[in-house]
Amino acid sequence: MFSQFTPNTLSAFTAFGAILLALSWPLWYLMCRARYYYKVRNIPYAHDLGWFGWCITRSSRNEFISDFRGLMRKGFAKNDLGEVIVLAPQYAEEIREDAGLSAGVYTNIVSYPKRYIARTHSDPLPVLLQDELLTYLTIEWHAVPLYQTILMTVAQVSVCAFLGKEMARNRRWVELNSLYTTVGIGAVMALRPWPRFLLPIVCRLHPSVKATQAVLAEARQVMNSVLQKRQAEAGKRDQDSLDWFNEVAAYRRETFDPAVAQLTFGVASMHSTSDELSQVLVDLRDQPDVVEEMRKELIDAVTRLGWTHAALNQLKLMDSVLKETQRLKPINRVFNKRAVLKDMALSHDIYLPKGAFIAVSSDRTRDPDVYEDPETYDAHRYIKRAQSQPETARFCGFSSVSLESTGFGFGKHACPGRSYVTQELKILLAHIILKYDWKFASGYEPRYMNNGFDSMTDVTASVLVKRRVSEIAFPS
Ligand code: HEM
Repeated sequence: MFSQFTPNTLSAFTAFGAILLALSWPLWYLMCRARYYYKVRNIPYAHDLGWFGWCITRSSRNEFISDFRGLMRKGFAKNDLGEVIVLAPQYAEEIREDAGLSAGVYTNIVSYPKRYIARTHSDPLPVLLQDELLTYLTIEWHAVPLYQTILMTVAQVSVCAFLGKEMARNRRWVELNSLYTTVGIGAVMALRPWPRFLLPIVCRLHPSVKATQAVLAEARQVMNSVLQKRQAEAGKRDQDSLDWFNEVAAYRRETFDPAVAQLTFGVASMHSTSDELSQVLVDLRDQPDVVEEMRKELIDAVTRLGWTHAALNQLKLMDSVLKETQRLKPINRVFNKRAVLKDMALSHDIYLPKGAFIAVSSDRTRDPDVYEDPETYDAHRYIKRAQSQPETARFCGFSSVSLESTGFGFGKHACPGRSYVTQELKILLAHIILKYDWKFASGYEPRYMNNGFDSMTDVTASVLVKRRVSEIAFPS
């Protein structure tokens, strides 16, 4: 019987098998898509191109990149991930535990910024308060690049908290951290318009990806010498973020690249912090009375309580300003960006099929039913809200999270660094308002950089600053 299988018959079988495979793959793909669209049939398209929408995606991708807010209102977007189901804010409650959804691996170590920073420096406050911060001495008005200056300062403070004072004084390491944040985000933005299937090729050739890799290569060199030095002085130093990562990796039985870990941690913490602080300075540009009131509040608290946590906790106006800035310009206009790992059913007949990408709209932060006159910047908004609605007072602090305040995310994966960053921002703002006056060129209008879900502060802005004499001294 087998003798009947000549080489010719065998090659005919192989060719037939190959054709069958080639035909069945598109069939399989179409079946998966059909199943997907059947499951999401109740969800309206934001960018409805009718039947052409099945083959034309470029125009919707562009609309996503340039005008996500407009697109989000319609509820359903297409972007570089394919399509994203944008859920209304109330669904955040239903997915808050993240069961069946992808999320960062960080949550198992969710307490690390709080727990480990406390362990690293029994109190990070003195470290962050060092008087070396922002010490431009010029008493004449002069221009400095807003975002870059803030980013370098935040990078220095963050490196100080994560790796100690010595590394914070290593200028190149601080630069690499701030560079990685900007070139890395630049690379993400540059790759975003490309179709997903071309990314493996494009990312090998694109100059912005190469720039990111160059920063990483240099960071690895610095990190290697740090690690060698540490081996020599084992046991004679405070624990820091490198020890945290080691501990977590050992717990998870994984290996990790210390340079990547540090730089990635930097991206999570430095970019959003710099964006928020730069935006506060932009928002307060025509509010001298508010700045003066913030100074008075700060001087009063520090005179009574010293440079302590208790004093920082009393800065209610500063808290309200930080929160109002984040309300009107969060760095992300959605939260809980996740991939669906198994089919899920939500209320009102919404089905999330496995493989879908979802995000929750943060539009409630501008909802007139939630916030009076929501489009107006009101520095005192959260102080008044805490007074008029005592039941919501505990949600009025900058670091608190609720469906009305989703700048730090919501649910199980809400930002674990938010208490730390509240302190960091208050200390940085304290330095700025006591040491400087600032203004922008007359007629200045901020130009926000919108890219899909992200909305960055005006990274091109120059700010005019001049040194002032602080009423109180900083601890040295
Ligand atoms: C104003 C500054 C900051 C903002 C607006 C911010 C916002 C956010 C948001 C929206 C998330 C996503 C939550 C989610 O996926 O649902 C997040 C996650 C995270 N943030 Fe922050 N963050 C800030 C500062 C920081 C700082 C200073 C640190 C570190 C000390 C930090 C560490 C993290 C980490 C590790 C995650 C991942 C959490 C997880 O996946 O479970 N963040 N942050």
